[in-house]
This record gives sequence, C-alpha cells and structure tokens, in this order.
Amino acid sequence: MIKREKSIELLNKAIAGEMTALNQYMYFHFLLEDMGYDYLSAYFKRTAIQEMMHVEKFAERTLYLKGEIDMKASASVEKIHDVEAMLEKAEAMESETIANYNEWANLCGADADLASKQLFESIILEEESHQDHFDTELENMEKFGDKYLALQSIAHSRNAVAAAGALSAE
Ligand SMILES: [Fe+2]
Ligand SMILES: [Fe+2]
Repeated sequence: MIKREKSIELLNKAIAGEMTALNQYMYFHFLLEDMGYDYLSAYFKRTAIQEMMHVEKFAERTLYLKGEIDMKASASVEKIHDVEAMLEKAEAMESETIANYNEWANLCGADADLASKQLFESIILEEESHQDHFDTELENMEKFGDKYLALQSIAHSRNAVAAAGALSAE
C-alpha cells in the first residue's frame, strides 16, 4: 500500500483541532452548568462528544493508512467566562474547521485518496450543523438580550423542581 504522508499529516491536523474543540466545549459545559444555564451547558457537552467521535473517525483512518496518531490538541483552552463570548468563540472555531476541511478534502482528492476526502466531507456536514446552532443561539441572544439568559435560568429552576419531585415520588 502507498504510504499517504500528506493525508496522514492532514488527518493529524484534524485530530489536533478536534481535540482543541472538545476541550474548549467541555470547559464551557462545566462553567455553564455551574452558572445554572442547563440548556447551553448540555448542548456544549453533546457537541464535545460529537467532536470526540470525529477524533475517533480521523484516528481510524490514520491507522488504516499506517500512520501514527499524535493526540495533541492544537491550542490550549481559552478561559472565557462571558456567555456571548463563548458562543462567538465556538462559532469562530466551527467556521475555521469548515474552511480547513473543505481545503483538506480537496488536497486528499488531488492525491487520489478519495476515502479521506469523503471522510472530511461527511464531517463538514456535522460541523456546519454545529455552526448553524451556535449562530442561532447568538441571534437569540441579540434578539432577547438579558431575557435570553433569564429564560435559561428558569429552565434550570424547572429542572431542579422536576428532579426534586421525582425524588419525593420515589
Ligand atoms: Fe468536529
Ligand atoms: Fe464542531
């Protein structure tokens, strides 16, 4: 089998970026949970898990190509505490990932590695849905202002009451 050095390099760059995203999103998840913003906290956790699944897919492909997996995040976590800044950071990360994967899919295609190309293409679709979701949350934040966070706090209280009810019913 031809050793596809270029694809292996791109797949490892993708793994590094996915690990950065998963660390950053878990960090946001922890903070948002602590602030009582249950919905956004859960969304960041779910997205982090999806980024981890992307690491897995890129790693499987790298091993198939007989490459080594670096498992190093491309950047360290940014300590962002403001909710709007978190959403802006996440939206920017997704945009950058989409641009990279479009470029890298084409590079793999030009190197006649169509399976790696297709892998990038299938993951682009998921990153676009993340970006779309973060965009919507940012729009809602602009539209509803402080009420946006107030609604999230109400959801938290409702969940707490429901959990207490479930406990007393046991
Ligand atoms: Fe991803
Ligand atoms: Fe993503």
